[in-house]
Amino acid sequence: GAAELGPYRHYMQKEIFEQPRAIGDTLEGVSAIMPELFGDKAYTVFKQIDSVLILACGTSYYAGLTAKYWIESIAHIPVNVEIASEYRYRDSVPNPNALVVTISQSGETADTLAALKHARAQDMVNTLTICNVSTSAMVRECMLSYITRAGVEVGVASTKAFTTQLTALFLLALSLAQIRGHLSDEQEAAHLKAMRHLPVSVSAVLALEPQIIAWAEEFARKENALFLGRGLHYPIALEGALKLKEISYIHAEAYPAGELKHGPLALVTKEMPVVTVAPNDTLIEKLKSNMQEVRARGGELYVFADADSRITSSEGIHVIRLPEHYGALSPILHVVPLQLLAYHTALARGTDVDKPRNLAKSVTVE
Ligand code: G6P
Repeated sequence: GAAELGPYRHYMQKEIFEQPRAIGDTLEGVSAIMPELFGDKAYTVFKQIDSVLILACGTSYYAGLTAKYWIESIAHIPVNVEIASEYRYRDSVPNPNALVVTISQSGETADTLAALKHARAQDMVNTLTICNVSTSAMVRECMLSYITRAGVEVGVASTKAFTTQLTALFLLALSLAQIRGHLSDEQEAAHLKAMRHLPVSVSAVLALEPQIIAWAEEFARKENALFLGRGLHYPIALEGALKLKEISYIHAEAYPAGELKHGPLALVTKEMPVVTVAPNDTLIEKLKSNMQEVRARGGELYVFADADSRITSSEGIHVIRLPEHYGALSPILHVVPLQLLAYHTALARGTDVDKPRNLAKSVTVE
């Protein structure tokens, strides 16, 4: 059945390796970009909205942060992303023309459901959920939905739910862009082609596991780690830090690399591993100067580069290179080695990977 472990030691590992299948399934039946992917009323709703408000918790919140970059740069619509437990109690300024998007693996997270109700109580009726459970409260409560096809996720630390959420959110960015005339037929075809190729590309990233295991042996001896990313990959750095702290209990935090000098640089010593998400995007040169700032203080850099980033290993700079550069969809590839790093570090430390202490898979009470 769906919950069998097969050759894997933990559900988390199985679920990491299921991502090519999960992403492929999430895209099944998507032959073109169109609002109707999100429901019958999506065309009318997408036409009238002037902004997007994303509400979520945990890993789903980081999917939302990534979507902000996509929707603003591709569809040119302003996006706010809020942690559901904050939004539900905050005096915010309601905008009835906003599209309210909740993101949830379970569809039952109490704070996210309450945030949705809080938005609706303020006349924000255009609601859409990106959700992994079609029978959940969230899907029932929202006008529009996109069901991710990750399948049952057992590991408390979310993995395949995240990459399928990103897949669905990229489709949302493209649909919103199209309805506003920002997506040509050529662009649509190119994006669809890149998306359909994701399962193959994710498999190639999974093949880096042996190199990541070698790094995990080093990480298992540390008590702190810093994760850096910029732009689209800042949320990926956040997700990498969350994975590591959830299951290995190593204190980890993520910073947008440009913000290093405003605090975390004070923590950098040779005892501090600094994981850097470094695809060859427009900010790569800026990121390289940030890496130099870390090296100058003796910090050890663990860099996830890609085929096009010109970064080579040297003293204190360890590099694992993802086989392809993937443009806008690069976050979907770059989160995978961070999941594996957290998994193997936790394994080396002997923690209960699938059921980390004090955490629950689905937080259905406040
Ligand atoms: C818990 C889980 C996380 C998940 C978060 C939000 O904290 O441990 O993995 O990201 O809830 O859950 P949801 O089901 O709403 O995505």
